[in-house]
Amino acid sequence: MRAAYSLRRRLLFWLLISTAIIGMLALADTYREAVDTSNIVSDRVLAGSALAIAERVVVAEDGSLEVDIPYVALEMLTSAAQDRVFYRVDGPPGRFITGYQLLPVIKEAKGEGAVFADDKFQGEPIRVATLQRSASTGIRSVPFAVTVAETTLARRHLAQAILFRSALRLGFMIAGAAVIVWISVTVALRPLYNLRDAIGERSPDDLHPIEQSVPSEVQPLVDTVNSFMVRLQSALEALRNFTGNASHQLRTPLAIIRTQLALSARAGTLAEAQDSALKGDQAVAHAERILAQLLLMAKIDAATAKEALATSAMDVAAIAQEITGELIPAAAEAGIDLGFEGDGPAMIRAEPLLIGELLRNLAGNAIAYAGKGAEVTVRIAQDGETVRLEVEDNGPGIASEKLEAVRRRFSRGNESGTPGAGLGLPIVDEIANLFNAKLTLLPGAGGRGLKAAVAFARVS
Ligand SMILES: Nc1ncnc2c1ncn2[C@@H]1O[C@H](COP(=O)(O)OP(=O)(O)OP(=O)(O)O)[C@@H](O)[C@H]1O
Ligand SMILES: [Mg+2]
Repeated sequence: MRAAYSLRRRLLFWLLISTAIIGMLALADTYREAVDTSNIVSDRVLAGSALAIAERVVVAEDGSLEVDIPYVALEMLTSAAQDRVFYRVDGPPGRFITGYQLLPVIKEAKGEGAVFADDKFQGEPIRVATLQRSASTGIRSVPFAVTVAETTLARRHLAQAILFRSALRLGFMIAGAAVIVWISVTVALRPLYNLRDAIGERSPDDLHPIEQSVPSEVQPLVDTVNSFMVRLQSALEALRNFTGNASHQLRTPLAIIRTQLALSARAGTLAEAQDSALKGDQAVAHAERILAQLLLMAKIDAATAKEALATSAMDVAAIAQEITGELIPAAAEAGIDLGFEGDGPAMIRAEPLLIGELLRNLAGNAIAYAGKGAEVTVRIAQDGETVRLEVEDNGPGIASEKLEAVRRRFSRGNESGTPGAGLGLPIVDEIANLFNAKLTLLPGAGGRGLKAAVAFARVS
């Protein structure tokens, strides 16, 4: 048996793995977005400060540039957090005017807008904005650059806060989903637990179909179990019949065997002992016959579920001819002339082994009961849609008032001398039924003997 596993744990495992992977991707995306957003917001402030400073740059009388730093503009930035703010103003290329001389400048800044870059200053990561402008005296215009920078503590905090909140939300969602899976698996499995209880409460021999309502996904399983139980039921019944019948039917021959053994033990002469041995042997043969018939009956009973039988097309003429041939020595010994009539092939849908047993029983009866000097004919007759397998004899036949009775199990005629179980004709009847065929018992030609016929549907 394979090791059992928990459906719930499996579902949870896959749910957690997949949501964790998707969650990681989502978080990475969120973080990137958060960084972008906080950059956009803070860059705007940075650009505003640079612009405010640029507006205060004037050209002095001597043509040099002068700046009156508006500290309010820088305050705009510092209000954000513990961030530190730096600035510098540079005149025409290479001429530092004021501010932090070591602050990096973005060289490629051109045109109207400010340009931004990430850099490092005094060992701390900073965001730098450089704005290119020019101041004019009316006669000439002097280009200059304003660079403003701030440490990125606030932006990083903002991005981290956003990331943390997202992670928290995601965590709650995963936990929620896990709880939902846990609960819904419990609810979904409840019908199965009910099914288990219903089956568990049954008595061992209760093989009724399960009628518990189950989810449609489980219904096929229940259907399979039900059809299995039907087969088990008929197998069990066959077994029960067999054991019951066997113990009942074998009692008489076994008693005879014991008596004969006791007689032979006490026998005074060899002739007496031999006589007892012979009678004992006959009783054993009788017991054997009974067992064989009972086993065959049990096999047919177990096969009542017809789909369990392999029924492919077979040639009944060939089988009939073969079995007739096999029986000729036994027939000759009984002083009976056994013959075969009919042409093959004669195709029917049935199981060859069982058809063989059917014919052996009919022909066996004729050989056993028709009497010395009788004629027995095994015949295949085909007409239109039917194939008839017939066994006809010209012996004493069966009295019409007994024709119904001999078809019942264990009912025998007056032939108490002949070993038999009284199961032959019922077996024939039931095998015929298995293949939708019909057994008819009629007097033979000229009102003499018995004609047993089984009519099958012909397969073309
Ligand atoms: N061809 C026949 N001619 C005369 N009587 C028959 C013939 N076939 C069957 N019978 C009678 O029908 C009875 C029932 O036959 P059936 O084959 O069912 O049982 P059986 O032959 O007695 O026992 P089994 O076949 O199980 O060993 C027989 O005992 C016999 O009396
Ligand atoms: Mg018989």
